[in-house]
This record gives sequence, C-alpha cells and structure tokens, in this order.
Amino acid sequence: MTKAPRKAPKKEQKQVETTGHSWDGIEEYNNPLPRWWLWTFYGCIVFALGYMVAYPAWPLLDRATPGVLGFSTRADVEKEIKRFEEINAGIEKKLAETDITEVAQDPELKHYASQAGAAVFRTWCIQCHGAGGQGAKGFPNLLDDEWLWGGDIENIHTTITHGVRSEADDETRTGEMPAWADVLEPDELLAVVEYVLSFNQRDANAKLVEAGKVVFEDNCSGCHGEDAKGNIDVGAPNLTNAIWLYGGTREDIMETVSHGRGGVMPNWNARLSEADIKAVAFYVHGLGGGQ
Ligand code: HEC
Ligand code: HEC
Repeated sequence: MTKAPRKAPKKEQKQVETTGHSWDGIEEYNNPLPRWWLWTFYGCIVFALGYMVAYPAWPLLDRATPGVLGFSTRADVEKEIKRFEEINAGIEKKLAETDITEVAQDPELKHYASQAGAAVFRTWCIQCHGAGGQGAKGFPNLLDDEWLWGGDIENIHTTITHGVRSEADDETRTGEMPAWADVLEPDELLAVVEYVLSFNQRDANAKLVEAGKVVFEDNCSGCHGEDAKGNIDVGAPNLTNAIWLYGGTREDIMETVSHGRGGVMPNWNARLSEADIKAVAFYVHGLGGGQ
C-alpha cells in the first residue's frame, strides 16, 4: 500500500501508478484506500475487540464466554419471570386455596383465572386441543356440550389434574374401549356398526340395525348405556349425537369398534401448579361448553 497523498489529484488521475496488471489493455490503478474507509475499518476492529471483552462472544463447549458486563438475555427473562411471580404470588396462593366451584364468585379471582387460564391454555393445551379448543380427530373439542368425562367445573378440574389413561398418575381417569374384532363374529360386527350408524343415518340397513341392537345390548350398553348416550364414569361417549371423537363414517366406526380406542391425556399435576390448573379449568369451563 502506498502512502496516501494529502489531496487526491483529481485532474491528474492518469498519472496515478498502476499495479502493472493488465487485461486486454485495461490496467488496474494502485490508488490508496480512501481515508474515511480506512478509519471506519480500524474503528470496526477496535469496536469488535471491545465487544468481545464486554459481551458474550466466543462459543465454548456448552456456552459462550460471558463477557465482563454480565449481559445475558436468559438471566433477564428469568428476572422478569421472577418479578411477575412475585407480583402474582398473593393471588396465585388465594386461587390455589379457593375451592374450584367458588372461583366464579370472587370478581378478582375470576378475572385473574380467566386471563391466566388463557395463557396456560396457549402454552400447554393447543398442541392437542387446537388454538381455539376446537379439537381434532382423537382430541376432544372443548367448546361443545359433549363431555367424555363430565363438563361441570369439578369434573373438568379432575380431568386436567389427573389426566386420562396417564400411566404417571394412579388417580387418572380410566376406562377402555375394547377391540371387538376377535370377540364378535364378523356379521355381528357389521350389524353393531350399522346400529351405531343408524342413530344419525336414515339410510342404514334396517335388518342389520335390528340385529345390531341385540349385539349392542349384550356387549356395549354396559359402558355406553342402554340408550347409547354414554357414561362419564368410564369416559364412554354418547354415540347418538353426531359428535365424533374418532369420526362417524361407517369405516371410522368399524375401525373404532374393531380395534378399540384409548386416548391419552397427560396428568397436569406433574407440570403445572394448583393455581395454574384451577385457572385453566376455569378457562376451559368458560369456553362455552361447560355445564
Ligand atoms: C398430548 C395431547 C394433549 C394435551 C397437551 C392436552 N390434552 Fe386434554 N385431552 C387429550 C386427549 C387425547 C383427551 C381425550 C382422552 C379420552 O379419549 O378420553 C383429552 C381430554 C381432555 C379433557 C376432557 C374432555 C372431555 O370431553 O371430557 C379436558 C377438559 C382437557 N383434555 C383439557 C386439557 C387442558 C386444559 C390441557 C392443557 C393444560 C390439555 N387438555 C392438554 C390430549 C391432550
Ligand atoms: C368397557 C367399556 C366399553 C365397552 C364395553 C364398549 N365401549 Fe365403546 N367406548 C368406550 C370408551 C371409554 C370410549 C372412548 C375411548 C377414547 O376416548 O379414546 C369408547 C368409544 C367408542 C366409539 C367412538 C365414539 C367417537 O366419538 O368416536 C364408538 C363408535 C364405540 N365406542 C362403540 C362401541 C360399540 C359398538 C361397543 C360394543 C361392541 C362398545 N363401544 C363397547 C368404552 C366402551
């Protein structure tokens, strides 16, 4: 690099030294770098060195060098969370100690539970139950009046606390839909599916339906009830109301009845505080379908 002249000789640029490179007669000037550029460049180096000392910079095996300023976004978040926890500690304690049926009577608790419950729901529940609680195949809709395990606030609270068929909790909700493929004769299977279908479909085969009714009374009514309207004690759904957890076509019902079902919902007492569980139970109950 040559020393930069004090003032770039604008007019006499042709006299500037060339690098000696030449491509098809096009030559390369050996102009010095502009001063402003050079200083910016040096400035950047100095800044980078300072930054590396002050802030987390060099990646190590499990984290980066911490930097002398102690800056950490993780620590900031932890501090923020702690601050909110402190602010909410009083009301959380009150919520945890209040009977779930009495939350609605206290305006302050009611307000807090619906806000906090919505936040808990967004964090922990939407993966399975959908952003609006609308559910999906195998994951119940929480907005309607159909409840496998009961839709009053106490039942909702129990379901969320202990889960459904959750191996990690002895008090979990239990009740199986057995597989019937090896138990019933093929014609009995066809008949009972037709009978279930007939609650909602007028074009069901009348003869099969008649035979299916008998199969149902012998095998299914113990859990689903004589009238097939379900039983929340064993989580057996109402089969007459056209709301289907696993689909209501002939093929869906055949699949369910042949192979059985057993949806699993985690027990949330392992992950959430009692206040959070009460809040989300209150929120779910208020979604529209609560009884
Ligand atoms: C891993 C998926 C999953 C997650 C996450 C989940 N659930 Fe569930 N939930 C289920 C399944 C599956 C069922 C249905 C179980 C059955 O078949 O009886 C269910 C059932 C329920 C029921 C009973 C519905 C009824 O009809 O009786 C409630 C209430 C409920 N969940 C609330 C919640 C809440 C609140 C959360 C968040 C804290 C949550 N669930 C998170 C899978 C999940
Ligand atoms: C031991 C109790 C029990 C018996 C007996 C039983 N079921 Fe079920 N059934 C259940 C339970 C519990 C569920 C819900 C499973 C779940 O939530 O994953 C269910 C679910 C179903 C469903 C799915 C409903 C939906 O919304 O998708 C159909 C259909 C059904 N049963 C039909 C039958 C028929 C037909 C029989 C007799 C051949 C029968 N069940 C016998 C307990 C039983």
